[in-house]
Amino acid sequence: MIKIAPSILAADFANLERDIALVRTADYLHVDVMDGLFVPNISIGLPVVQSIRRVTDLPLDVHLMIDRPVRYVERFCQAGADIVTVHVEADSAENTDRALDIISAQGKRAGVVLKPGTPAEAALPFLDKCSMVLVMTVEPGFGGQKFMEDMMPKLRQLRAWIDGRGLDCELEVDGGVDPVTCHTVIANGANVLVAGSAVYKAQDIPARIKELRG
Ligand code: DX5
Ligand code: ZN
Repeated sequence: MIKIAPSILAADFANLERDIALVRTADYLHVDVMDGLFVPNISIGLPVVQSIRRVTDLPLDVHLMIDRPVRYVERFCQAGADIVTVHVEADSAENTDRALDIISAQGKRAGVVLKPGTPAEAALPFLDKCSMVLVMTVEPGFGGQKFMEDMMPKLRQLRAWIDGRGLDCELEVDGGVDPVTCHTVIANGANVLVAGSAVYKAQDIPARIKELRG
């Protein structure tokens, strides 16, 4: 089954509860955390995750675009995240490994994220500890960017490794997913689709969520 994870980065932050309620037919709620260091933008953090937790039953899929995430993963778990993903580019392999262990020890689902310039191989050392791998199909930092079709070989490679090893790991894509590109990412092995603009700019949001399932 294809899962949809609307990104609240495209929501109206002054009406977050209302906008979260609009996507209740989705599977996960994607929360983009940015620190202004790892990416050139600052979005939301711990207090917002904590507040969102109280107003939705959707699993919170927290995408940490922060430097050295090992410092904060435990607090994001405690704030109510269900899935926490960390960028492999954000710290040493040793600390990324530690971050994944901390998330799992909190009883949450852990995952790694790859920026467009990072090869599929960078996820390999962590695959056994991941219940999610996220492939960025735009440069992280901003919503509304153009989908990078050249990430499809990376996606196929990861799908092959996950299936080949029989891993219980979801494969997520993030960036530029819309009613056209959703077919491309699904055909190349993604099973969780993040969508910000394509969901929140739609006239009929439940219909758009359904459409994105392919
Ligand atoms: C970008 C974020 C994305 C973003 C996607 O750094 O990680 O989750 O919200 O936005 P769209 O779907 O508009 O490309
Ligand atoms: Zn994201």
